[in-house]
Amino acid sequence: MARKKITVVGAGNVGATLVQRLAEKELGDVVVVDIPQTEGMPAGKALDIMQSGPLYGYDTFVSGTTEYAPTADSDIVVITAGVPRKTGMSRDDLLNTNAGIVRSVTEQVAKYSPRCILIIVSNPLDAMCLVALRTSRFPKHRVMGMAGVLDSARMRTFLAQELKVSVENVHAMVLGGHGDTMVPLPRFSTVAGIPVTEFISSDKLESIIQRTRDGGAEIVKLLKTGSAYYAPAASATEMVEAILKDKRKILPCAAYLEGEYGIRGVFVGVPVKLGSDGIEEIIQLKLTPEEKAALQKSASAVSELSQAIKGS
Ligand code: NAI
Ligand code: 2OP
Repeated sequence: MARKKITVVGAGNVGATLVQRLAEKELGDVVVVDIPQTEGMPAGKALDIMQSGPLYGYDTFVSGTTEYAPTADSDIVVITAGVPRKTGMSRDDLLNTNAGIVRSVTEQVAKYSPRCILIIVSNPLDAMCLVALRTSRFPKHRVMGMAGVLDSARMRTFLAQELKVSVENVHAMVLGGHGDTMVPLPRFSTVAGIPVTEFISSDKLESIIQRTRDGGAEIVKLLKTGSAYYAPAASATEMVEAILKDKRKILPCAAYLEGEYGIRGVFVGVPVKLGSDGIEEIIQLKLTPEEKAALQKSASAVSELSQAIKGS
C-alpha cells in the first residue's frame, strides 16, 4: 500500500514538533517546508528527525525544503506558518501579518496538492481558517482548524489534576473561537463517563474554566520568547491520525458553519466527526440558552476579526 503524504508548512516550534510526532506514529511520509530565508533549516530538522527512526523504530521518510514542488500530491497539509504570539501581544495582533502568510502559503498548497485536506494552526486560528477556505476554494469539509483539541486537552489536564485521576478518564469539550471567548462546556465534560459537575464544586470548576481560557497566555508568560508547541503539535497529530486512519473520531475543531448552532459564514470550534473525507459531520449538541448565547458571542468575535482582515 502506498504511503500517505503529509506536508507541514512552517518548520518552527509547532511545525518541527509536529513532524517529529507524525514520524513517530508512521502516519505517512512527511515533507516540511519553510521560507527561502531559512535555507537549510527545514532540511536539517527533517534529517535530524529521520535519524531518530532507528532508535524509536520508525521508517518514516522525512524531508525538508523551501519549495512547494516536493509537497505535491500531499493527502494532508498542516499550516503552522506564521509569527507566534509574544508576551503582551494578543492573538488578534497577529491578524494581518499571519493572514498574508496563510494566503500565500494556501495558494501554493492548493496549486500543488489540489485534493488535500487542510488543517490550519496559525493564529488567530478561526480567522486564518476563513482565509485558507477562501484562498483554496476547497469544499468546506476539507478545510479545518486546530484549537478545540488543544483547549480541551488543557481542560482535561486541569480536571485530572484536581480530581487526582488519570487524564485518560477525563473528557472535556471546549467549543467556540480560539481566544478569550472560547466556550468550555462542563455539562459535556466527563470523568469515566460521569459529568464532572458531579465531582467538582462550581467555584473550583469556574477557576478551571478560566485557567483553560487563559491556557495559551499562561505558557506565553512563562516561556517569554514564544508560545506553546508541544501540546499544539500533539493536538494536530490527533486530527491527522483521525483522518488518515479514517477513525471517524468526534473532536472539537474549527469548522465553517452555514446555519449550524444559528451561526453562518464563519469558522468556529464545534464537535465534528473526522474521517478520511475530512469533516464528515458537524455534531449539533443540544445547548442550553446560556451555552448557545456564549457560542454565538464567540462566533461574533471571530466574525468581527475576520472582517478586520485587509482585503477580506
Ligand atoms: P515559530 O516562529 O516557531 O515558527 C513559525 C515558522 O513559520 C517559522 O519557522 C517561520 O520561518 C515560518 N514561516 C513564516 N512565514 C512563512 C511562510 N510564508 N511560509 C512558510 N513558513 C513560514 O512559531 P510557532 O510557535 O511554531 O507557531 C506557529 C503558529 O501557530 C503561530 O501563528 C502561533 O500563534 C500558532 N499556534 C496556534 C495554536 C492553536 O491552537 N491553533 C497553538 C500554538 C501555536
Ligand atoms: C495557544 O493557545 C498560542 O494559540 C496558542 O497556546
